Amino acid sequence: MDLIVAADKNWAIGKGGDLIYSIPEDMKFFRRTSLGKTVVMGRKTLESFPGGKPLPKRVNIVLSSNPDYAPEGTVAVHNYAELFAEIAKYPEDEVLLIGGGRLYTDLAKYCRRAYITLIDAETEGVDTFIPNFDELEGWTIESVSEPLEDAGYSFRFATYINSNPAVYS
Ligand SMILES: NC(=O)c1ccc[n+]([C@@H]2O[C@H](COP(=O)([O-])OP(=O)(O)OC[C@H]3O[C@@H](n4cnc5c(N)ncnc54)[C@H](OP(=O)(O)O)[C@@H]3O)[C@@H](O)[C@H]2O)c1
Repeated sequence: MDLIVAADKNWAIGKGGDLIYSIPEDMKFFRRTSLGKTVVMGRKTLESFPGGKPLPKRVNIVLSSNPDYAPEGTVAVHNYAELFAEIAKYPEDEVLLIGGGRLYTDLAKYCRRAYITLIDAETEGVDTFIPNFDELEGWTIESVSEPLEDAGYSFRFATYINSNPAVYS
């Protein structure tokens, strides 16, 4: 599995159940990278999408501890064992973790590659973070773009590689 996320200078990714920054060029990158793939997310991330609806043209796997939780158009799983059994059905490079903070934090060690949009900004009152991938054991930066500008923000597209991804268990 790989992951994709947009984080700011403090590795913040969310505020009040939503994204902090709205950057159309980054949205396009997310769409391009995730289309046709199997995307994995927590319940709160699904609820942050317009109408709480799953993403079209992707298999949407959603994690919730509520056994009755089964939103239309999703594959619901209820713990990490169920999640791992489900994603084992797909080729490794077709599974993409798309959030949120809790899943990134718990599951980064299983990921091989992280596509991280590094946003050169910071905001107060944020409440959801990912780990600092520059200091996370096993992770190194493979490539980073020149700074790009859109919607008043400066950002870079970075790819981080995990030298020793954990086996699903
Ligand atoms: N910047 C970005 O790229 C990006 C991407 C995605 C999301 N976000 C932001 O991140 C925030 C959401 O992140 P979050 O950490 O609050 O929530 P989340 O990770 O999206 O979802 C957490 C929920 O997932 C379920 N879950 C997690 N681990 C589980 C486990 N081991 N077993 C069973 N269920 C489990 C639980 O659902 P139940 O409570 O139903 O049990 C939990 O409440 C939002 O602000 C969103 O906009 C940002």
